Amino acid sequence: MEVCTTVNELRKIIPNALISGQSIGFVPTMGALHEGHLSLLERARKENNITLVSIFVNPTQFNDKDDLARYPRTLQADLDKLEKAGCNLVFHPAVEEIYPPGYQFNIDLGVLDTIMEGKQRPGHFAGVASVVNRLFQITTPTRAYFGEKDYQQLAVIHKLVKDRALPVQIVPCPIIREQDGLAMSSRNMLLDSFLRASAPRISQILFAAVKMNRSLSLRETEEWVIREIDKDPLLKTEYFCIVHATTLESSASWLTGEAMVGCVAVKAGKIRLIDNVKFLA
Ligand code: PAJ
Repeated sequence: MEVCTTVNELRKIIPNALISGQSIGFVPTMGALHEGHLSLLERARKENNITLVSIFVNPTQFNDKDDLARYPRTLQADLDKLEKAGCNLVFHPAVEEIYPPGYQFNIDLGVLDTIMEGKQRPGHFAGVASVVNRLFQITTPTRAYFGEKDYQQLAVIHKLVKDRALPVQIVPCPIIREQDGLAMSSRNMLLDSFLRASAPRISQILFAAVKMNRSLSLRETEEWVIREIDKDPLLKTEYFCIVHATTLESSASWLTGEAMVGCVAVKAGKIRLIDNVKFLA
C-alpha cells in the first residue's frame, strides 16, 4: 500500500494506471475508519483494479468549530486497517494541498441546502461539494463510493456530478450497523457509556416506524418517531423528515408507488448522530 500526501506524488501513479486501462475505485473519508468505511473499500476492490482511499478532515464542511476540534483523528490505526483490507493507495493531504491560496468553488445546491442537514448545518454541503469536487479533480477516479448513511450527502454528490458532467460513476453503498442496530459512525467513539447505551434507540424506532407499513399518516409517523426517540432523556431529535427517496422533496402525505426515506438527526449529549431508513413503495 502506498501513502501519498501530495498531488504530485499521486500524479506519478494515477495517470499511468488509467492509460494502461486500469480502473480506479475511490473512497473519500475523513478517517477514524470503521466497518462502514471498509465496506465501501471492499466494494471498490471488487469493481476496480486499483483502490484509493483519501483521509482528510475537511475543515470547510464543519459549521461548528468544536465539532471540528473534537473530530477523531486516528491515522496510524486507519493505515493499519486499510493495509489489512488490501487498499492500494492512500491519499492523506494537508489542508494547503486541497485548498491552495485563491481556490474558489461555488455551487447552487438548491433545495438540498434548505432542508434537513442543509438547514441545520449552514455551509456544510457547500464544503462537502467543494472538497469532493477537488478530490475528484486530483484523483480522477473511474468510480467513487459513498455510503447511504449520509443520505442527503449522496444526493449532493449526485447533483455535483450531474451539474458539472463529471466523468465519474457514483456508487451508493448500504448502511453498515453495529449488532444493536446503531449506524456505524466515526462519531460513535465520542459517546460515553450512557450515551452509547441510549443511541441504538434511534434505529430501533426507525425500524419500528417502517414496520407500521404506512398505517399512520406521514405526519403522524414523523411525530411518532420524534416523540418515541425523545422519551429517552439523553436523546433529543433535531429533525425527522420523510421525503422522496430520490428527489428528497418533502410531501404532506405518503406518495403512492414511490419509495420514501426517513432521515433523522439526534443529539446524544453533545454528539450529533444521523441515520435513515427507507419506506419502500
Ligand atoms: P466520513 O464520515 O468519513 O464517511 C466517508 C464515507 O463513508 C461516506 O460516504 C459515508 O457515507 C460512508 N459511511 C460512513 N458510515 C457508514 C456506515 N455506517 N455504513 C456505510 N457507509 C458509511 O462523509 C464523509 O466522511 C465526508 O463528508 C466526505 C465525503 C469524505 C467529504 O469530506
